Amino acid sequence: MDDLREKYLTLIKDVADEAALEELRVQAVGKKGEISLKMRELGKMTPEERQVAGPALNALKDEVNSALNARKASLADAALEERLASEWLDVTLPGRRRPAGTIHPISQVWEELTAIFASLGFSVAEGPQIESDWYNFDALNIPGHHPARAEMDTFYMHREDGDNRPPHVLRTHTSPVQIRSMEAQGAPIRIIAPGRVYRSDYDQTHTPMFHQVEGLAIDKDISMAHLKWTLEEFCRTFFEVDGVELRFRASHFPFTEPSAEVDIRCSWQGGTLKIGEGDDWLEILGSGMVHPKVLQNGGIDPKEWQGFAFGVGIDRIAMLKYGIPDLRAFFDSDLRWLRHYGFAALDQPDLAGGLSR
Ligand code: PHE
Repeated sequence: MDDLREKYLTLIKDVADEAALEELRVQAVGKKGEISLKMRELGKMTPEERQVAGPALNALKDEVNSALNARKASLADAALEERLASEWLDVTLPGRRRPAGTIHPISQVWEELTAIFASLGFSVAEGPQIESDWYNFDALNIPGHHPARAEMDTFYMHREDGDNRPPHVLRTHTSPVQIRSMEAQGAPIRIIAPGRVYRSDYDQTHTPMFHQVEGLAIDKDISMAHLKWTLEEFCRTFFEVDGVELRFRASHFPFTEPSAEVDIRCSWQGGTLKIGEGDDWLEILGSGMVHPKVLQNGGIDPKEWQGFAFGVGIDRIAMLKYGIPDLRAFFDSDLRWLRHYGFAALDQPDLAGGLSR
């Protein structure tokens, strides 16, 4: 019995891991283990022999069992220590670096104006950038000979030789979305349509691709007063500047009657653009009451319905809001410029938090 004790206590002490320890347990005190077999021999002994051997064997079994348990606990502790040592994490380290990219001011302004018009009950509509001349011109009451076609410096798509159909164009404004929305949803309508537009023009305030947001509200009793209120409300919320001064100028568009253009007072001194002061005016939008012929072309009865429409230059209002004096910088992809004027990716504009947090 002393040999058995010596043997197992040594083996238990030297065992390397929990799996080997389990094997040892089976080998010693398992059903067919060495100590268990010895206990079975008790039955063959005389009562006197059994009186001595029984308690001694039981004591041996208890001793081996508690050695097994103690070793098991110490192996588990060691395993935990090892995991703690290898898996530690310094929770006081600074967080992840914010991604290097920024949101382009145009995208930011796009989100801002969408949030403002959404709060006024406008939903967002879309149309294609490559447009038929019907949607871009004719349906908007701009016939083929009309000078507006030339004034808009249109980019025409190339047709195959011998194909005499009128060419498609890169849309020169977002107004074709007016017609598409009328066709798609009928009256009443309250939509905005932000998007890219194209004209062959290039200077400090013009680039061949730029952005507009179209607005269209059609109902039974919409008037010029609603138009004026909506645009003033939009500008006040968007610019977040007290004393934004708007100038409504009588104008002419083939697709609205009457028509007005809106300028904003600004100063342009020393290479910086400032809003709400100065003696300069920057034109930011065209607007008016939708022409009856346009309603008709969109399948809406002008005797029953009327409405207003406007087209705002997104790039222009972005220049004004963020003091960017040259439109062309928007599209130069100059990294230093983008880092300076860009917005953090998580800076989502909303009305509750203040738009340009
Ligand atoms: N489509 C006009 C432009 O691009 C703007 C406009 C839109 C004017 C809607 C009146 C009504 O200049």
